[in-house]
Amino acid sequence: MHNRVAVMHGVNLDALDRRPAEHYGGLTFARLEFKIEQFARALGLDARFFHSNHEGEFVEELHKVNDYADGLLLNPGAWTHYAWSLRDAVELTALPAIEVHLSDVKHREPFRAVSVLEDVCIGSVIGHGVDGYRLGLERLKEAM
Ligand code: DQA
Repeated sequence: MHNRVAVMHGVNLDALDRRPAEHYGGLTFARLEFKIEQFARALGLDARFFHSNHEGEFVEELHKVNDYADGLLLNPGAWTHYAWSLRDAVELTALPAIEVHLSDVKHREPFRAVSVLEDVCIGSVIGHGVDGYRLGLERLKEAM
């Protein structure tokens, strides 16, 4: 059964509740992961969580992810916009991947409009807050 999803959070996501409320709504990271776990369970998916503030650690986790996941749900935070190392590491997994952003990165500062991961992901969900993770999981479920 292909139902194992690696939910991977990158830089600064662990401090969400201390970041601008107009973009992140004061959401705590614990609450975010709790909600994702609920969404996954409702869809019959088995979510495993990973977070790091260290780019190399994130890459190393991607090197191992094929051992335990059939698909990737990624919010790499600011790395999204410039970390080609993540793009290449996602590519080498050859897994279906969805990029999720809580805020509407296409309508914030111009640097956020760029995603270096875009071409190695099957889709992206942008600006739907926590609910974006549910949409991402639904999309991933179809692809796994
Ligand atoms: C983010 C958007 C990024 O631009 C930002 O650096 C983040 C969070 C989001 O979920 O909206 O850390 O990925």
